[in-house]
Amino acid sequence: MRIVKLWITVLSTCVFLLGNASASLPKLQEEGEPKASTDLGAKVFEENCAGCHEGGENIIDEKKSLKKEALLENGFESPQDVQQIVISGKSIMPSFEEILTQEEILAVAEYVWTQAENDWR
Ligand code: HEC
Repeated sequence: MRIVKLWITVLSTCVFLLGNASASLPKLQEEGEPKASTDLGAKVFEENCAGCHEGGENIIDEKKSLKKEALLENGFESPQDVQQIVISGKSIMPSFEEILTQEEILAVAEYVWTQAENDWR
């Protein structure tokens, strides 16, 4: 009988731990959400923008960099303005409207803005 009791204790401990683990999973994901969009923005930037804008620079026209001062000087005052140029393109910069999803455009615009505010460090 003692063995049976022991097993019941072991099993209920397992059930308790399992229940706890799965209950805490959705919560972890919720907390991770803002970071997930930053990660997406960083990935989109590396794959689509870094060729011309590595480290927030502009290899074609250095005055049109993605540094905060340059952005403000050139009339980009919010992530929405960055989103706009990504959608429409400008001179040599291509339009990404057909290349990226809306979610990716939003994420990369927010990423550029955050990086500019942190001086691309
Ligand atoms: C082929 C090179 C190229 C690629 C790729 C490119 N850009 Fe550009 N980008 C430019 C050029 C050139 C300009 C300057 C356009 C102008 O005003 O004449 C520019 C301007 C900008 C500006 C405005 C900067 C300022 O200070 O005026 C932003 C913001 C920007 N790009 C973001 C992006 C993002 C985000 C991506 C990726 C989704 C991207 N660019 C991809 C070449 C590129």
